[in-house]
Amino acid sequence: MATQPFSDELVDRLAHARHIAVLTGAGISAESGIPTFRDPGGLWQQFKPEELANVNAFVRNPQLVQAWYLHRRKLALETMPNPGHQALVALEERVPDFLLITQNVDNLHQRAGSKKIAELHGNITRSYCIDCGREANDAAMEPAASGSIALCSACGGYIRPDVVWFGEMLPQDAIREANDAARRAEVFLSIGTSAVVYPAAGLPLTARQGGAYVAEINVEASAIARYIDEVVLGKAGIVLPALLDAIQKR
Ligand code: OAD
Repeated sequence: MATQPFSDELVDRLAHARHIAVLTGAGISAESGIPTFRDPGGLWQQFKPEELANVNAFVRNPQLVQAWYLHRRKLALETMPNPGHQALVALEERVPDFLLITQNVDNLHQRAGSKKIAELHGNITRSYCIDCGREANDAAMEPAASGSIALCSACGGYIRPDVVWFGEMLPQDAIREANDAARRAEVFLSIGTSAVVYPAAGLPLTARQGGAYVAEINVEASAIARYIDEVVLGKAGIVLPALLDAIQKR
């Protein structure tokens, strides 16, 4: 039988902790079939962020940006949460103080059943009008006809996805909640993120300064690996259920 890729200390700490915070990135959804950003074949190798994920690009070419997000939204809706997402639901149910901080916009944690979530980068299943701010319904990202632009039914403004673009502020409530949870955490898990985009990438370090045991789960060591307590190498969809199983046996 293969030995566990994580330490007994991590299992013990998770089993006894009352305050746990978790940061997730695109890697946790990779096994659901959603491409990451920076891995080979990732989104930012095929598309340029400056042409798609900022407000100037949107105003210059709303049709292109809407079509790209529509494509990503369809993909997210067609895929299913995987055992990694599900293990985090079970972890949340074990502790009184838990926060799942996600950089993902794919809504898979929500669909898996996680309840306490701070969405740092928004959620691709929601959209709103850039002029009047009104939230648009599900169908609103779809342009009326192919080649046209999706417009607000109330004021005619362009409809944009409710995601954070480069150069935009993060939702202040979500980042405040995330920072507070990182400071309170006894154990902090950073899962499937390259940890190069701030302020999210600073959260594991904030947690460690606050006294948390910080572990990462990733198929390769991330940018913050050398500053944390433990790097667990492996796929989130395999490591997380195994970790949960080990905790439940403690
Ligand atoms: P990245 O694409 O930068 O990193 C994905 C990470 O997941 C890498 O470190 C991979 O090694 C790891 N990985 C891949 N498959 C995995 C698996 N099965 N199990 C565990 N780990 C795996 O994605 P993020 O770190 O999420 O922001 O990127 C952060 C932000 O950059 C995104 O939220 C997005 C992007 O620009 C915005 O759009 C605002």
